[in-house]
Amino acid sequence: MKLLDGKHVSEELKKQIAVEAAEMLEKTGRKPHLVAVLVGNDGGSETYVASKMRNCEKVGFKSSLIRYDETVTEAELLNKIEELNRDKSIDGFIVQLPLPKHIDPEKVTETIDHKKDVDGFHPINLGRMQRNLPCFLPATPFGIMLMLEFYGIETAGKNCVVIGRSNIVGSPMSILMARNANPGNCTVTLTHSKTQNLKEITLKADIIIAAIGKKNFVTADMVKNGAIVIDVGMNRELSDKTKSGYKLFGDVDFDNVAPKCSYITPVPGGVGLMTIVSLLRNTLSAAKKEFY
Ligand code: GUN
Repeated sequence: MKLLDGKHVSEELKKQIAVEAAEMLEKTGRKPHLVAVLVGNDGGSETYVASKMRNCEKVGFKSSLIRYDETVTEAELLNKIEELNRDKSIDGFIVQLPLPKHIDPEKVTETIDHKKDVDGFHPINLGRMQRNLPCFLPATPFGIMLMLEFYGIETAGKNCVVIGRSNIVGSPMSILMARNANPGNCTVTLTHSKTQNLKEITLKADIIIAAIGKKNFVTADMVKNGAIVIDVGMNRELSDKTKSGYKLFGDVDFDNVAPKCSYITPVPGGVGLMTIVSLLRNTLSAAKKEFY
């Protein structure tokens, strides 16, 4: 069993991003600039956004955080997004999800200029992704592709089972793994809450990507020997044993699944760190106008 080490891979990729950001600063006198919009005070979102901002500084980007109380109206938020769309000093921005119930996330996503949509959630970016055209890829699936690429894992012709069909992870992940690209070229099965006989399906998987949001959902009896297991789970539980007061669990019963795997990602220290690198990569691509 080999650990897919998100810490190592993300540090290596960040070094390259930092070099390119420094080159840009030298050539143009400006840094890539990412803005994050955070609504409310969801504990998970606070942590992830703080980490995104911290990582921007580490690679020499400018970052700004715009905070709103959870009572902000949808109209107010959409106005802000339009302002950010127009602001030439900003290369890319994200609106951290989830949003309070009175705000429609689809409206928010579609209001963001696709040229600044470094989360890769806008339908134009999703459509271009499906067509294999240059675009911003959604951060978590993109991070997983970068991880597979870094380790030179052969995916062509493999059976890939994605568990979970969210807009953010499962759904775009299934498209990326099926695309005629490398990594990619898999035979993909996208499973979800209505899937019957899940275990029968996962037992045929060469690659399992678990993005269901349930601790220990993938158990050893669901995994065939030699499988590659990618754990996207970010399940936070209160703990008095960690500095943050929370402990993070994946969707995979790591201790029992890992011995059966050829490769597996740990949680923490796996996919989560790759998500941030992808966001940095997309922000750099936006600043360099690589796609649009
Ligand atoms: N919430 C969970 N993951 C993400 C992400 O990748 N981007 C945004 N904006 N919100 C999220």
